Amino acid sequence: MKARKKPSKKYVSDLRTQIEYHNYRYYVLDDPEIPDAEYDRLLRELQSLEKEHPELITADSPTQRVGAKPLKEFGEIKHIIPMLSLDNAFDEQEVSDFDRRIREKLNLEEIKYTAEPKLDGLAVSLLYEDGVLTRAATRGDGMTGEDITLNARTVPSIPLRLIGKGFPNVLEVRGEVYMPKKGFDQLNERARKNQEKEFANPRNAAAGSLRQLDSKVTATRPLEIACYSIGSVEGGEIPDCHSLILNKLRDWGLRVNPEIKTISGVGGCVNYYQDMASKRDGLPYEIDGVVYKVDSIEQQNKMGFVARAPRWAIAHKFPAQEEITVIEEIDIQVGRTGALTPVARLKPVSVGGVTVSNATLHNEDEIKRKDVRVGDTVVVRRAGDVIPEVVSVVLKKRTKGLRKFKMPAKCPVCKSEVEKEEGETIIRCVAGLYCPAQRKEAIKHFSSRRAMDIEGLGDKLVEQMVDEGLINDIADLYSLKKEQISNMERMGEKSAENILQALEKSKATTLARFIYALGIREVGQATAQTLADELGALDTIQNEPEEQLLELPDIGPIVAAHIVHFFSEKHNCDVVKKLQQAGVHWEEGKTTAESDVLKGKTFVLTGTLSSMTRDEAKDRLQALGAKVTGSVSKKTSYVVAGADPGSKFTKANKLGVTVLEENDFMKQLSEWENRG
Ligand code: IVH
Repeated sequence: MKARKKPSKKYVSDLRTQIEYHNYRYYVLDDPEIPDAEYDRLLRELQSLEKEHPELITADSPTQRVGAKPLKEFGEIKHIIPMLSLDNAFDEQEVSDFDRRIREKLNLEEIKYTAEPKLDGLAVSLLYEDGVLTRAATRGDGMTGEDITLNARTVPSIPLRLIGKGFPNVLEVRGEVYMPKKGFDQLNERARKNQEKEFANPRNAAAGSLRQLDSKVTATRPLEIACYSIGSVEGGEIPDCHSLILNKLRDWGLRVNPEIKTISGVGGCVNYYQDMASKRDGLPYEIDGVVYKVDSIEQQNKMGFVARAPRWAIAHKFPAQEEITVIEEIDIQVGRTGALTPVARLKPVSVGGVTVSNATLHNEDEIKRKDVRVGDTVVVRRAGDVIPEVVSVVLKKRTKGLRKFKMPAKCPVCKSEVEKEEGETIIRCVAGLYCPAQRKEAIKHFSSRRAMDIEGLGDKLVEQMVDEGLINDIADLYSLKKEQISNMERMGEKSAENILQALEKSKATTLARFIYALGIREVGQATAQTLADELGALDTIQNEPEEQLLELPDIGPIVAAHIVHFFSEKHNCDVVKKLQQAGVHWEEGKTTAESDVLKGKTFVLTGTLSSMTRDEAKDRLQALGAKVTGSVSKKTSYVVAGADPGSKFTKANKLGVTVLEENDFMKQLSEWENRG
């Protein structure tokens, strides 16, 4: 690589000031202003400038020290052994360079590594004296952290006492405290309801929760720990391999991530990285990469440390999930229930390898809280398969004259009135199915896979059909003629025939699917199933009084009111009649179960299954006549526990409910299915 022109001292010093500022936002305030990817870029620029021109390195450069100074409110704890950071690798070449350096230094052909997920939370140190947790600290600046003992004690997965035998008199354990995705979503939902500030991501939520001055608040936050190393040890034997140390920690009652593996060479590293990348979206917690650590402690000691990180470990980071871009426009989408959702049209940006040009802004309150304006530079996040969202505005980059955003006073599609129900954050178009946007969404929902499952009738086609006036409601689908479909854009004889066949096939359905397909507000799959199971016939559901509906499991006043309201509208009942006249049918008085092998048995699913999704497991159990519910009680027959099960697992053990782990469950399931 050609060396760049030597930068001025001022340029380098400004770069350092910027990095330090962002360090402070990230580490001290838990409120970063820029995405990690942007921060990494700044730090790497400084690192490479210092590498090219070592004379520019200063003792206080951010490359020479770990993190930032701790806040003063908590007591301080000086770490007996400094808590270091990790160097990063962003591609295979950098992993291969890391491995080569180690092989060369140790004069070995192949290195054995422990590979671990890099959890996105905050590092803590736990001190156990004679097996009792006596002190917990954050990493702080690596030398001195904050005393968070009281808070750590509220985290259920941090044992107050070690179990088993043979732990040293003094054992310092290190790990990551993080907030699982589900807990994070619930916490933010609660914040939204209470009009409080939401956390930008699970990492900030974990840090904010653990660094609470009031430990009672921490106790309400869904935090977990995964231990990944040890610090100081006195009076006891410790194995000579990192992987064996982790096994010991597990034996002593400490939580260690279940995805950790031992591997060999660069090939092993890359396979592990790819495996974790493909599992990433399905994991119940966020990871931002994987970590490789030389497994032998003797070899680790030979490798030693550089300023801020060990030479025997590296973090192989996933592509960023957050990026910055500019909002070019804010459009309003009208959903199935009339909800007006603001959507940001963005200057296209690649986020973790996928081009993002739209991001949801959720609702008016959300826009107000974040003060998002057209023309703003914003942070966008894409996590898993969820819709990308605007996380925050980079206020420093706001140009003058940008106007506050205002929601429209009329429906942008049909120009009808809009309303905001009391206590709701959502603005809705009042026109119902007279609004073409709502009509389109209702038809899309009706034909979707979990509803009537009309294969080939995609969103675009539905929109075109409504725009061209071929259909006005869901029942019109069944009177479509072949020529009408084949005359449409990009359609031909064959595709028209396929659609008609799919429509014909969809006529044979189940009561639960049909109820769900109607798109009654707040009636999801589970409620539709309850209605079908408990009431057995459409006629009964249509005429069930509100008080009776309230008696059914999991049906509350809001849902009951929506059901009654739906069937009180004549045009809805007309559509239902039209559908039945067109030949849509189901067997009444029966549940969807194809057999009754598991009749009377109740199942609860928790954790991640590797061989199927929870929905699939649920479908298969229900097909055998079982009930699948969301909470564990004494009446639960089995709890199926996948990887990283939640509190349901603990509760099952407490109540003595049989727990089936994935392997046993799979065996049992095929046995039940053979019987059924
Ligand atoms: S080892 C000396 N292992 O990543 C090695 N760190 O970027 C110290 N982290 O401060 C860390 N998962 O907060 C290690 N499996 C893992 C990790 C992990 C997440 C965090 C930790 C650390 C940061 C370094």
